[in-house]
Amino acid sequence: MNIPVEPYRIKVVESLRRIPRREREAVLRKAGYNVFNIPAEKVFIDLLTDSGTSAMSDRQWAGLMVGDESYAGARSFFNLERTVRRVFGFKHVIPTHQGRAAERILFQALVHKGDTVPNNIHFDTTRANVEVLGAEALDLAAREAYDPDDELPFKGNMDVGRLEDAIKRRGRKRIPLVMMTVTNNSGGGQPVSLDNIRRVRAVCRKHKIPFFLDACRFAENAYFIREREKGCARTSVAEIAREAFSLADGATMSAKKDALVNIGGFIALNDDRLAGRLKELLIIGEGFPTYGGLAGRDLEAMARGLEEVLEPDYLEHRIGQVRYLAALLEKERIPYFKPCGGHAVYILADRFLPHLPRNRYPAWALTTALYREAGVRAVEIGGVMFGRKDKGGREVYPALELVRLCVPRRVYTVSHLQYVAEALAELYKRREKIRGLRIVSQSPYLRHFTARFEEV
Ligand code: F0G
Repeated sequence: MNIPVEPYRIKVVESLRRIPRREREAVLRKAGYNVFNIPAEKVFIDLLTDSGTSAMSDRQWAGLMVGDESYAGARSFFNLERTVRRVFGFKHVIPTHQGRAAERILFQALVHKGDTVPNNIHFDTTRANVEVLGAEALDLAAREAYDPDDELPFKGNMDVGRLEDAIKRRGRKRIPLVMMTVTNNSGGGQPVSLDNIRRVRAVCRKHKIPFFLDACRFAENAYFIREREKGCARTSVAEIAREAFSLADGATMSAKKDALVNIGGFIALNDDRLAGRLKELLIIGEGFPTYGGLAGRDLEAMARGLEEVLEPDYLEHRIGQVRYLAALLEKERIPYFKPCGGHAVYILADRFLPHLPRNRYPAWALTTALYREAGVRAVEIGGVMFGRKDKGGREVYPALELVRLCVPRRVYTVSHLQYVAEALAELYKRREKIRGLRIVSQSPYLRHFTARFEEV
C-alpha cells in the first residue's frame, strides 16, 4: 500500500483533544444521538464533511490580507472572475455565500411548481432546493451507482436512456434544466466520465434544455477522468476540467470543496439574460453581484484555491489519502462501497451491522458507535438522510445505507487515518453489540440535521 506522503509541511498547528470515553457517552446522550449536535470541540477526528473544512495554504492566507473589501467592483472579485473564466471557461461569474445559495438562486429563476429536475443523484440540499419549489428531483444515475461491489471506473454516470424517457414522459417544457453532480457525492463520491457528460449534453441540446454541472468536486472528477478514461492520460487535469465545462451551459459551485476555502460558492454561465435574472435574485438575498454574500478576502482566497486544487501533486496526495484509508479498511475486511470515491470512503453499514433492520438505521447507529469508540465523527448517508414516507405513511429507504468517512483537504495526516481505521477495526470485531436507534423527533425537510434519537 502506497503511503500518501504529504506534499506540504506544517507551519501552524491546531490542537486536538480526545475527551475520555465516559464524557463522549454523555455528549452523545445530550446530542440526542445525532452527531450534528455534538460540539466540534468534543470531536477528536472530524470526518463529517470535506465541505468548508480544508486547510488553506500560506498563499491563500496571504490573499486574505490583500482582499479588497469594497462594496462594488472590488479587485478581489475581478481576480476571482478572471480565474473562474480561465478554469471553467464561462463568461458570467456570480458569487454566492455557498453552494446551496447558488442552487437556490438558479432554481428560483428556472424551476416552477410541477417541474422535474433530473440529476445523476441530487445531493440533499440540491434535492431540498428543488422540492421546496414544488418540483420533482429525479435521480437518474446508471444502475451500477447502486451496486457497491462492481469496480467500474465511472459509477457516477447518468443513465442517458432514462433521461430520454423522462423527457418524453414529462415533456421538455416541464424540465427546466438537467443537472449533473461531479463527483456523485450521494452515490459514493464516484466520478462521471467525459463521454457521459457529452451524451447528456447531446440529449439536452436536442431538446433545448439547459444543462448545468454541480461542480463542487470538479478537480477530483477530472483527476479520475485522466486516470481512467480512454485517451485522457496525456491531457492535464485542468484541460479535462475545461473540456467538461465546455459541454455544459453553466455550473453551480460550492467553493467549500474544490476551491479549498472555508466559505464561498458561485454560479458560472454563458447566457446573458439568465445571468441578469440571477443577479437580480442575488441582490435580494445574497448581496451586490461583485461580492454575493462574501467578504472580499473570501473571494481572494477562492481565486487562489481554484489554482492550487488543479496542481498534480496536490491531487495525487488528495486522492491518495482517500485510497489509503480504503486500503486500511480492506485489510480488515470492512465492507465499503467500491471503488472508493474522490473525497470519502463510504462504509456499507447494512453489511457492517447485518443484525440491524433498516428501521433501526444501521448507518446512523454506526456513526454514534464510532464517536463513542474513538471520538471520530462521520456522517450517515442512508435511511435517515434520504428515507421518506410513502402514501400509506410507511417509511421507504434509499437503496444504499452508507456511513461516509469524508477526508478534509490537507487537514489530517497518515497517522490520523490509521487511527480511524483502527477504531473501525475494533468496532467491527464487536459489531453485534452495536444497538439500533429510533427517531424521537424530526423536521419535515433535511431531518438528519436536527432529528433526535434514542437507543433501542
Ligand atoms: N452539491 C453537492 C454535490 C454537495 O456535496 C454539496 C455540499 C452542495 C451541493 C451544497 O454546497 O454546502 O456549499 O451549500 N455538500 C456538503 C457535504 C455539505 O458534506 O457533502 P454548500
